[in-house]
Amino acid sequence: MAPQKIILDTDPGVDDVLAVLLALASPELETVAITITFGNTHAPVAYNNLLKIYASLAREVVHDAESLKRFPGLAAGNGGGKKTVLALGADGPVGGEKSVAAYFHGTDGLSNISETHPHFDPPQLPAEGAHEHLEMSKKHASEVILDQLRENEKGSVTIVALGPLSNLALALAADPETFSRVGQVVWMGGALDVPGNTSPVAEFNCFADPYAAHQVMDGVKRGLFRLVMAPLDITTPHTIHFDQLIHTADVNNENNNANGDATTPGKTAGRDGRELTPLREFTSAMLVRVRGLMQSFGLPDEMEMHDPVAVWYAIDNPAAVDVAQAEARGWKTVPRVFAVERTGELTRGMCVVDRRYVLLPLSSLPPFPEPSLILLPPPPE
Ligand code: BDR
Ligand code: CA
Repeated sequence: MAPQKIILDTDPGVDDVLAVLLALASPELETVAITITFGNTHAPVAYNNLLKIYASLAREVVHDAESLKRFPGLAAGNGGGKKTVLALGADGPVGGEKSVAAYFHGTDGLSNISETHPHFDPPQLPAEGAHEHLEMSKKHASEVILDQLRENEKGSVTIVALGPLSNLALALAADPETFSRVGQVVWMGGALDVPGNTSPVAEFNCFADPYAAHQVMDGVKRGLFRLVMAPLDITTPHTIHFDQLIHTADVNNENNNANGDATTPGKTAGRDGRELTPLREFTSAMLVRVRGLMQSFGLPDEMEMHDPVAVWYAIDNPAAVDVAQAEARGWKTVPRVFAVERTGELTRGMCVVDRRYVLLPLSSLPPFPEPSLILLPPPPE
């Protein structure tokens, strides 16, 4: 089967990096475009972080040519013949004040590795020079989203949104008809029956641009497209122990740098015997600070896989798959009724769930401003 075409809209962001790597490592997916939004950090910084991911992958391939097989998404279009388009997008919300998640992701969005590991910086591209794996578009991310939806068969593209929905809201407002060609939108965002992670009631991506979330939900309500949501309810319980993610060489070495033997790729094997490769060095360096933060919050020694869960859903469920088929594949989906709070002294970005829905037949309720949406509970082990 031909890989499923996806547009990744992302704000790297530590867990975004893991999600991007998962997408590029998945033969089931063809990443036709990566569009960058502000969120965990400012959009130009997030753009540079995306280039850091590709630079680390390039170093990994130089280190071991076989690793190219592990990342089929690196090859032009994973069989589609075109390079992945990269575009910079919104550097602020479509409404309300801007807020970034530096407290968690560091000021550079990647645990401040630009200071601790400057050798991860992407090499400068020669003027007008082509990137080996990316087509660097000068267009705004929202235009690139619309271009891709126009160029590809109607219903064939999944948008996987891993940050605030600003780029999607701009694309939707500019051309709703073209936007409705999307097969499905899968969004990591919101918190329905659990507390928020940015305020007591709001999840970060929803908090950062609640106006955009509201506009996108409105598009769903108008029947323009299907949205599958992976809120904190499902993403927080999906964790991986830091021991499995961080190479031993970085465990006690938060401020290591390119000159230390401990971080020279190929020289050090971890406790599990795995070699320190350029890519493991990159991901380990980024995760060490997050591990410390989680410990300081008194949380388990595990990385919450928020954004990778959304990519995982897209891997398992191409756009053509309906809810019943997704269920047959182990993904239970539940329609939900809620509205996104745009302003509020305490409730910005809250998903206000209409809990009357569980007590009364839906038909007996007055209309609520938002449509039924889909929540993904955890698939079986
Ligand atoms: C979401 O917010 C960001 O900090 C993460 O990258 C993820 O997209 C989790 O609330
Ligand atoms: Ca994110």
